[in-house]
Amino acid sequence: MQPISNILNKIITGDSKEELKKISDNSVDCVITSPPYFCQREYGGGGIGNEQKVEEYIEKLVMIFKECVRVIKPTGTIVFNLGDKYIDGNLLLVPYRFAIEAQKTNKVKLLNELTWVKVNPAPKQCLKKLIPATEPFFIFVKDDEYYFNRDAFLDFKDNLCGCKKKPSKDVGKKYFELIEQSELSTEEKKQAVKELNEVIMDVMQGKIESFRMKIRGLHALPYGGQAGGRLTQIENKGFTIIKIYGNSMKKDVIESTVETIKGNIHPAIYPEFIIQEIMKMLTKEGDIVLDPFLGSGTTAVVAQKLKRKYIGIEIHSEYVKYAENRIKENANNHTLDLFL
Ligand SMILES: C[S@@+](CC[C@H](N)C(=O)[O-])C[C@H]1O[C@@H](n2cnc3c(N)ncnc32)[C@H](O)[C@@H]1O
Repeated sequence: MQPISNILNKIITGDSKEELKKISDNSVDCVITSPPYFCQREYGGGGIGNEQKVEEYIEKLVMIFKECVRVIKPTGTIVFNLGDKYIDGNLLLVPYRFAIEAQKTNKVKLLNELTWVKVNPAPKQCLKKLIPATEPFFIFVKDDEYYFNRDAFLDFKDNLCGCKKKPSKDVGKKYFELIEQSELSTEEKKQAVKELNEVIMDVMQGKIESFRMKIRGLHALPYGGQAGGRLTQIENKGFTIIKIYGNSMKKDVIESTVETIKGNIHPAIYPEFIIQEIMKMLTKEGDIVLDPFLGSGTTAVVAQKLKRKYIGIEIHSEYVKYAENRIKENANNHTLDLFL
């Protein structure tokens, strides 16, 4: 074992099967990684991926997964991205075989399968098959105390194109006319206008997304269960205001192109954008993110951009050198742009 401080913001050249053993229990906040896919390519260096049988591959992967479970804190999360494989025209469902075996360790819960929808999947020759265009990112936790900032996931969408679009200056205007035309008493009308002005202010200040107003004699009365309270309001004061809170749905899907980076020597990088959104959701500034299959360094680069600390392990020294350069260039890029 070595003190975690010795390996922060470093890439270890080596086999993660051995190197993970040197990391202490409960010391890392999050693991985000993409192991080599089964029988996909020869990386060299004797790593995982080219076993004779898929069962053997899964067994090796689960051994590494167990080490990841050991090293994460109780608040931590583990994200494994895997691709599938056809053998003799038969889809093996490799990612799901892994997820099922990982669950059998009884040390984790599978929280989500976040599906990456590839906007530009690799074209395939076979005309009698659809083109695979998705990959799972499995999110595991080992304790119910896991850190999870759901609002941070794809948050720019909320601000740019979702519910938080600028409210119209006419918001709620029609209700002033309806109040005026209504059968409400002068006192009730005065109160309705007052509350309408307040709720319009809430929309303008972004506190709520929108609202509806129901006025006695003009709108159909609400009925049943929860509407009971509203019915009483309409009867007693002549109106009710239903506030609509902007809470865009956070779905388990993320769209992104398959990325290439100019001059990249690594054949299988995952998109910075996806890692950025996952890292925002599962970690805070200063947290430690580990990638036991670092490849070209994507996880480390995103950690650097988001002010998290990283630990990378990569068996192939050429990739380690490439990743180190990528991280250095990223640090020199003062804008540290995030992908939107
Ligand atoms: C799919 S790639 C990861 C790519 C990475 N996510 C990126 O964006 O660049 C898997 C990497 O794992 C490395 N690898 C394979 N077996 C390994 C092992 N036992 N220990 C450490 N690294 C290994 C391979 O050399 C390869 O670079």
